Amino acid sequence: MARHGAPFMAAPIRFTVAAVIAAAALMVAVPVVAAKKTSYIATTGEKRVWHPMTLTLYGGPWASESAAKNPFMNYRLTTTFTTSGRKYVVPCFWAADGRAAHSGATAGSVWRCLFSPDVTGLWRWSVSFKSGTNVAVRSGGGGASVSPFDGQTGSFWVRKSNKTGRDFRGKGRLRPVAGKRHLRHDNGEWFMKHGADSPENFLGYSGFDNTPKARHHYASHRRDWRGGHPAWAKDRRGKAIIGAVNYLASAGVNSVYAMPMTVGGDAKDTWPWTTERGMWRYDVSKLSQWGLLFDHMDAHGVAVHLVLSETENEELFERADRNVKGRGFSDARRLYYRELVARFGHLQGITWNLGEENGWLDGSRQVNTDWQRKAFLAHFSALEPYGALLSLHTYPADKKRVYTPLLGKATPLTGVSLQVAGWPNVHKETLQWVHASRRAGKPWVVSVDEIGGKGALPDAQTPDHDQERRDVLWGALTAGAAGVEWYYQAGDQSLENFRGHANLWKTTDRAMRLLREQRVPYWAMDPADGLVEGKRNWALANSDVILVYLPWGGRARVRLAPSSAYKVGWFDPRLGGSTALRGARTIQSAARGLTTVGSPPWKANRDWALLIRREGSSSPPVVPVRSSPPAPPPVTGSGPFAFYVVDADTAKVVKGPLAARVTLRRSDLPTNFSIRVIRRKGMSGSGGVRFVVNGATERVEGAAPFLIAGDWKGKVFPWKKAPCGKVTLAAVATVGGARSTIEARINC
Ligand SMILES: *[C@@H]1O[C@H](CO)[C@@H](O)[C@H](O)[C@H]1NC(C)=O
Ligand SMILES: *[C@@H]1O[C@H](CO)[C@@H](O)[C@H](O)[C@H]1NC(C)=O
Repeated sequence: MARHGAPFMAAPIRFTVAAVIAAAALMVAVPVVAAKKTSYIATTGEKRVWHPMTLTLYGGPWASESAAKNPFMNYRLTTTFTTSGRKYVVPCFWAADGRAAHSGATAGSVWRCLFSPDVTGLWRWSVSFKSGTNVAVRSGGGGASVSPFDGQTGSFWVRKSNKTGRDFRGKGRLRPVAGKRHLRHDNGEWFMKHGADSPENFLGYSGFDNTPKARHHYASHRRDWRGGHPAWAKDRRGKAIIGAVNYLASAGVNSVYAMPMTVGGDAKDTWPWTTERGMWRYDVSKLSQWGLLFDHMDAHGVAVHLVLSETENEELFERADRNVKGRGFSDARRLYYRELVARFGHLQGITWNLGEENGWLDGSRQVNTDWQRKAFLAHFSALEPYGALLSLHTYPADKKRVYTPLLGKATPLTGVSLQVAGWPNVHKETLQWVHASRRAGKPWVVSVDEIGGKGALPDAQTPDHDQERRDVLWGALTAGAAGVEWYYQAGDQSLENFRGHANLWKTTDRAMRLLREQRVPYWAMDPADGLVEGKRNWALANSDVILVYLPWGGRARVRLAPSSAYKVGWFDPRLGGSTALRGARTIQSAARGLTTVGSPPWKANRDWALLIRREGSSSPPVVPVRSSPPAPPPVTGSGPFAFYVVDADTAKVVKGPLAARVTLRRSDLPTNFSIRVIRRKGMSGSGGVRFVVNGATERVEGAAPFLIAGDWKGKVFPWKKAPCGKVTLAAVATVGGARSTIEARINC
């Protein structure tokens, strides 16, 4: 629904003024009829890897938001994008006049698909456009062909990304990685969330069309808007919320919580429809304004954490739909998921959360069941083409009841969004879900998104945020969490000025900087409190690196590999001062038992982190290991590297080169073995090698010999993590990205 009906001809769609010129130059139009009515398909956008590209159908069926033939339900437009080895089936949407963010149009004949390619080269598209009663939510297909678009095909060429810095378009899509607990960008860079959870009604903003109950103006952030950044409609709205994003990005925040509907909930000011509960009719201009905001967030390295329902409205669709008996699955929900995925699924930094406090037996009597959660998750993940994070939030006391049935490979849930009532329980409860999900065979991305009580108060009340840092931030990090998001109870519907928590962002950013600047491979480290003496102390570790956190300082005694050299250094997690390691030195570990590393350099009874790294272990590079798009699908058995089995005790090659498909019996292998790759004769190349095991990076070796578990001064470390069963092993050149892959079956 438009607040401003007058067309605004000069305003570009989805582009800043500068970009529209580039877009126009890149526009490719495919006329699909030469008749009087001009119908054509145009592809616009930068056409670079990880950038949104737009496929627009002009001269399609005319529709209006309120037309008797509901354009949302009675058409199904889907485009399939393919390139060698990849296929994305993308739901598309009706876009009114195609410029609704600016014009406020409620009617028109423009239809649109948003897609972000993830490899360079030639991509093909193929349009499916059907009409028929409720065809949008009929997954089985059906419907009559919409002429002349249905069946049209075309292609476009995708170049490398030219973005750098925080811009997600230079890093690629954030996705969960099989077998891992953290999100990773397509370029190989791992992601630790530093998020803002409050206000939950981030989208309840007065600058969007049809948001009459908006609680937010974000007036103090208007000054953070910059020339060339988005503003929409004739009166150039949106500067304050765009400014708020700019401020958060500058403070190191990389994720923002947003609910597309707060109807019947706490804030009651946000809905995606033309009317407050009109769940069959979407507000095209409002949604395209949200789209401008989200695209801006993507370009500034701030992910959208889209939380699809609130505990008070988790049954909203089902209750309003007279075709659904209690606890069912309404078509209105299917439509809601489709409209959101169609409009925002292309973002690099989007994470989906099925619902807030879902399943809580509160007074609202709106309670989804296990069956519903499984059905909703299955439907959503089948619709969402890219495999983005799909998580779920629930009430603190309900975690066990709600999450347990969703563990394991049987459901598509890839993460949990924890609410923890007592701050001192953050570490323990994070560990609980990290371990439970791993035991069930599919580690979840576990994020601490809401803390109990009053939440994190503004700096004016708690300038140092000591308890947030100790219990929550470091409690979560050392338990293997994929990040934290800060909740502030008194501001959860009313927070207007994010600068009120400047010190909170700062103290969180310090932890993020430690991980980044000291190259802590947190994605390949596990919770390991047992390595450090003292019940209150925590550790995250792998065989080479240990990150210890001492909430109350004191002497650190740590279990290290016997008689080995380690580099140690202290990190001050509190505010102020440098982020460099203090008291850095090399120590020799004890021949047995615990090694006394020593005490913090000052303020010895305050919290300190201690980073311990085995001498000679190679640290992963700070820069993404793969700055070009993922390599094309491997040509099995060829490529730059050959694989060998090495006896770790003698450092000698005992088997190989291994065939493209090979069975290795554990009983035939040396007790301690490793895998080595050697550049094939005649293959030129330089740089290091990244070992990828079942799709996840296992290790990066900077220099030859390239060994999967590393080596030091002629000593080969055994590959202790070798899995049993079928394993895909890849070696990827860190320069150029060429790869060799073999399929091994390790019979243990
Ligand atoms: C990236 O390339 C586009 C054209 O495809 C150009 O408009 C833009 O300015 C370039 N951006 C950077 C940061 O180089
Ligand atoms: C294998 O490595 C372990 C220590 O990692 C060592 O104790 C053992 O002697 C090595 N060799 C064999 C044949 O087990």
